[in-house]
Amino acid sequence: MDEIRGGRSAKKYPYFEEETSVEVVNARMGADIDPRLREIMGVIVKHLHAAVKEIEPTHEEWLKAIQFLTEVGQTCTEWRQEFILLSDTLGVSMLVDAINHRRPSGATENTILGPFYVPEAPRYEHGTNICLDHKGEPTVVRGRVLDTAGNPVAGALIDVWQTNDDGFYDIQQKGVQPDWNLRGVFTSDQEGAYWFRSVKPRYYPIPDDGPVGKMLAALGRHPNRPAHIHFIVTAPGYDPVITHIFTPDCEYLSEDAVFGVKETLIADLQKIEDPKEVSRLGMTAPCWLINWDFTLSAKAPSA
Ligand code: BEZ
Ligand code: FE
Repeated sequence: MDEIRGGRSAKKYPYFEEETSVEVVNARMGADIDPRLREIMGVIVKHLHAAVKEIEPTHEEWLKAIQFLTEVGQTCTEWRQEFILLSDTLGVSMLVDAINHRRPSGATENTILGPFYVPEAPRYEHGTNICLDHKGEPTVVRGRVLDTAGNPVAGALIDVWQTNDDGFYDIQQKGVQPDWNLRGVFTSDQEGAYWFRSVKPRYYPIPDDGPVGKMLAALGRHPNRPAHIHFIVTAPGYDPVITHIFTPDCEYLSEDAVFGVKETLIADLQKIEDPKEVSRLGMTAPCWLINWDFTLSAKAPSA
């Protein structure tokens, strides 16, 4: 009889019942499917059914959930990825990142990439000012790229991007900000050193005019990210680091809407007012200074 139905497990779990719902659904998977897919779907069905059993939603509530996910999908475009925002705001992006970047202690920690990275930014000489709209408080960022033993890593690429002083990335304001505003790629020298000029970053809201923004409001959460500068640092033989540095004086530091802050990524920020110090930094007026070293861990031999 079981063979006629074609299901080896259909014998044990043929019909849907509340108590055995997980086993009934998971038993339908074919015998020859990808084992990782079997594992993933088995766990998802297990936890999804457990959530539904605990919540006991009404039909109206379940329909509302489906409408929400439909709206999330309908909000996605080439330039807007609402599902990533949903994953970010629920802490899932940071969890996946943490699981995939368990580094030796001392190595610079990863954090969320975010949706505003653009590859192939202009390559610049040290000291270049990446702020092309001349708004904001001038800031010098300087430091070294090192390995975990403290040796300099020469030739590392330091890809940087941040919002302007109005809290928007250039690609959010095409035609308003100059193209490539506040983006650039620098290369560490023989001592591992790099430096560039920019503006003091400021906090800004993640895009909150869609369903994820409505969800945050319904949960009594704000959409703000604390002030930060993004980096991707790469060098042959080392694990790439995708990270940000955060300024210590931002009021949203302990309540990032996407949970991207790590204590080790909070930078030291100094106001430089002494004219001699200012000119030593290659500046002409008082400015902010951020000293920041990156520590790269060697790639695992199999990587
Ligand atoms: C960002 O920092 O650019 C970002 C990260 C997650 C969601 C939205 C923006
Ligand atoms: Fe950002």
